[in-house]
Amino acid sequence: MTIAARSLSDSAIRTLAARIDRPLVLVGMMGVGKSTIGKKLAHLLELPFRDADDEIEQAAQLSVSEIFERFGEAHFRDGERRVIARLLDGGPAVVATGGGAFVQPETRALIHAKGIAIWLDSDVATLVDRVGRKDTRPLLRGGDPKEIVSRLKAEREAAYAEAPIKVMSDTGPHGEAVNRILKALSEWL
Ligand code: S3P
Repeated sequence: MTIAARSLSDSAIRTLAARIDRPLVLVGMMGVGKSTIGKKLAHLLELPFRDADDEIEQAAQLSVSEIFERFGEAHFRDGERRVIARLLDGGPAVVATGGGAFVQPETRALIHAKGIAIWLDSDVATLVDRVGRKDTRPLLRGGDPKEIVSRLKAEREAAYAEAPIKVMSDTGPHGEAVNRILKALSEWL
């Protein structure tokens, strides 16, 4: 895996990994790159990677869109909270969450209690560009993505800002965001 210009040496990454005693939980808007960045981060820290949306889909044997369509958002949030609670009990790992998870007060409280939340943030234009590449997000169906993304970001920002660590993930390669996370974590832990 190529991570350009590592911010920490291999031995510093190993020392950092040994200090991680809880799940690292990536939170932030859809399209910010939580899954891609999470996989790279997990690989470097030699931790397991878990994607909460994938786990919800496996548990329900339905896609996220199907869950929204058939049972509604409240039902999805309920399952999301239970799945994240289970992942938080699984020991050190990198966990990518769906964009709305950390906005739910109970789910947020669980993450604060048992994990280390890392808010990945980008500007609206970058998010809109990235979400445009996939048509699987129920909250974007039937509306203007720019309008929806701007509104959700504004509504959610106060919740995301409760994460103890914030890292920007803008237009550069995702490896840069991974480096920023490693650096921020080593300063925070
Ligand atoms: C959602 C984001 C999605 C998924 C669901 C709801 C949201 O995850 O959990 O469609 O409320 O922002 P991503 O952030 O991985 O797209």
